Amino acid sequence: MAARTVAVVLAGGTGQRVGGDLPKQLIEVGGRTILAHAIAAFDGHPEIDEVLVVMAAGHERAAAAIAAPFRKAAGVIEGGDTRTASTVAALTALDGRPDGTRVLFHDAARPFVGRDVIDRVLDALGVHAAVAVGVPSPDTIVVVEDGVVVSMPPRETMSRFQTPQGFRLGTIREAYALALADPGLRATDDCGIVHHYLPDVPIRVVEGCERNLKVTRPLDVVLAEHLAATAPLTR
Ligand code: CTP
Ligand code: MG
Repeated sequence: MAARTVAVVLAGGTGQRVGGDLPKQLIEVGGRTILAHAIAAFDGHPEIDEVLVVMAAGHERAAAAIAAPFRKAAGVIEGGDTRTASTVAALTALDGRPDGTRVLFHDAARPFVGRDVIDRVLDALGVHAAVAVGVPSPDTIVVVEDGVVVSMPPRETMSRFQTPQGFRLGTIREAYALALADPGLRATDDCGIVHHYLPDVPIRVVEGCERNLKVTRPLDVVLAEHLAATAPLTR
């Protein structure tokens, strides 16, 4: 039997940059919450077995009500103060699962992740232990220190990361075990933890999609509302 595949929807943040009374994942766009859109994307994917939601403290009941209608919803757990802490909460909840389990960590703030992106991550996970989703940057990206450009990496080598990030559970567990033992750990995303603590593990990057935006600022809520009302563009 193929390894079980778990999607972890990370909704432990409070959306300070969007502002408002509720965490941004509880805002409705296109008639359902951003969190519900994110859960639906994984619940509807044939290769996903379970969807685990990590929710901001104090909002677990709202998350449980949103997750309840989804067939594969496997529970809601309380997140931590940082995204890293929320990921660790999910890994703790997955204690005892086989190392070969495939786990996908997805930002709840990305409501429109497409089936094709999830397919590419799962395909790559057949070969690689760590998989990220990237999109090319239309803007030139430069490194700035103290208001001055210190380097200009070639644009064609630059990629903006999205989620989901996929891992074999044994690999991400090992990376976090090393990270948590490091007093100098700086918060980063899950691929950042693997890159830093397991430098010999290649992180395969597959193609993302501009529609898979992360609702980060108030303008993104407007964009998300618009995207919710439009069919995906093919190019
Ligand atoms: N996240 C999490 N636990 C945290 C912080 C963030 O699970 N302690 C999740 C968020 O809910 C989001 C994803 O990680 O789905 C990406 O984080 P971000 O866009 O920064 O969301 P927030 O932290 O909620 O927003 P802000 O930084 O503006 O407060
Ligand atoms: Mg944040």
